[in-house]
Amino acid sequence: MQIRNQIRFLLNGRNVAISDVGADDTLLDFLRIDQRLTGTKEGCAEGDCGACTVLVGRLTAAGLKYEAVNACIRFLASLDGCHVVTIEYLQGADGRLNPVQQAMVEHHGSQCGFCTPGFVMSLYALWMENAQPNAQQVETAIQGNLCRCTGYAPIIRAALAVSETGAPTADHLTAERDSITARLKASRDGCRVEVSKDGSRAILPADVDDLAEVLANEPDATLVAGSTDVGLWVTKFLRRLSPAVFIGHLDGLKAINVSDDCVTMGAGVTYTEAQDVIAQHYPYLAEYWDRIAGWQVRNMGTIGGNIANGSPIGDTPPVLIALGASITLRKGNIRRDLPLEEFFVAYGRQDRTQGEFVESISVPRISDGHHAAYKISKRRDEDISSVAVGFNIAVDNGLITGARIAFGGMAATPKRAAGAEAALVGQPWGEAAFLAAGAALPEDFAPLSDMRATADYRMKVAQNLFRRFWLEQAGADARLKSA
Ligand code: FAD
Ligand code: FES
Ligand code: FES
Repeated sequence: MQIRNQIRFLLNGRNVAISDVGADDTLLDFLRIDQRLTGTKEGCAEGDCGACTVLVGRLTAAGLKYEAVNACIRFLASLDGCHVVTIEYLQGADGRLNPVQQAMVEHHGSQCGFCTPGFVMSLYALWMENAQPNAQQVETAIQGNLCRCTGYAPIIRAALAVSETGAPTADHLTAERDSITARLKASRDGCRVEVSKDGSRAILPADVDDLAEVLANEPDATLVAGSTDVGLWVTKFLRRLSPAVFIGHLDGLKAINVSDDCVTMGAGVTYTEAQDVIAQHYPYLAEYWDRIAGWQVRNMGTIGGNIANGSPIGDTPPVLIALGASITLRKGNIRRDLPLEEFFVAYGRQDRTQGEFVESISVPRISDGHHAAYKISKRRDEDISSVAVGFNIAVDNGLITGARIAFGGMAATPKRAAGAEAALVGQPWGEAAFLAAGAALPEDFAPLSDMRATADYRMKVAQNLFRRFWLEQAGADARLKSA
């Protein structure tokens, strides 16, 4: 395997090549401290406020794609082969403001201005994808941007009016598309990349087989996919990462295959990349999916990372366990499949050996049955769950014949509600069964109190979700019958 000791990417219009890169160097520090590109701001340093939003363009199967990401938790090493676009690049060659900036001026979308570059970058990413967004699409695009003084109404008005100030086809990033694509393609050499600084090492395997080989030699290395968890270990807990193995660029972990039986997604598929297949095959999850973090985090965070981090409050494990998902783990060339629910052994402990990685997730397709997913959090957007649940109920001839219900936030791991499931199976499909199942829930869980919710609240809301599920499903049944 050929090794390159340099990361290479495009920064605005320039080629950048650096060897002196540590595993935990962030893009934001590189932009602000090394490059003096201070238009990109630092607010929270944890992916929550969007002040640091930049665009990262990368080559995908569908061509060059730009996404809004948080520079504060994005590691510099992960940018090999990408095009980084900062607020400074939006101004056209003639010095005029970009249409998004112009709309913000005309609609009074900025007061102190601290948040403004981040908003502009998120709205720029939206405008390039969708020149005529509706208000809901705008709100989704700015879920990850906080403004403390202007108020969101003028910002949303500006976003809705961008196409009055210019068309994406006239934008210089669109005009440069072919040349940027050619430059990024030319920089691809199929090498493994290894860089270091002050003893901190970052490794970017060439492909998934190379990842397996790298991990065989570095079984203690930290895997970094989207860095939306790992980034905070560095910015908030001041942890050192070295050696870190970056996997977010590996196309081999990004495949999505739909067979007659299941949807299989590579562990490196981001929430955004999974969005269409989720909406198509599990439509009831579409709204839930939009409530995972904010847009920038969904553009980086992976489903594999959400599973592998073993968190009891991750949003995908409860719904995937309810659906009967399994994962494939790989070490060297040996693979093993595991029902997802068996992966979570205890708090902070998963069934994964040193040097093993999650390669893919398989989710059974659904044709019938009753399904729902609920997330209870303090804020609607950009918030971690207090309680999350997936319901998957089979009914035959008016009798409940199967129940898979999995909760997050109720125990030390994402976990099925075995007692509640047992209370449902064999019962007539009706409200009484769901109230009895909710009443059985204290047999399954003894939740904790923490800053998000008290134990009592968690139990109460979880029980109420059985009632909500029944009411919604009964309503849907009634609508079907009257149609
Ligand atoms: P990383 O941070 O790269 O890695 C996470 C862990 O998984 C690390 O231990 C890493 O070593 C390991 N890992 C990653 N990939 C693999 C693999 N293939 N095999 C083995 N190990 C692997 N989460 C939610 O569930 N719901 C939310 O609403 C939510 N909101 C958030 C909001 C903000 C502002 C932020 C910063 C995070 C939020 N998160 C949320 C947490 C995070 O975004 C998710 O857990 C995300 O899915 C992690 O994926 P990642 O690719 O970024 O993982
Ligand atoms: Fe707040 Fe990056 S500084 S999201
Ligand atoms: Fe001041 Fe948004 S304009 S924080």
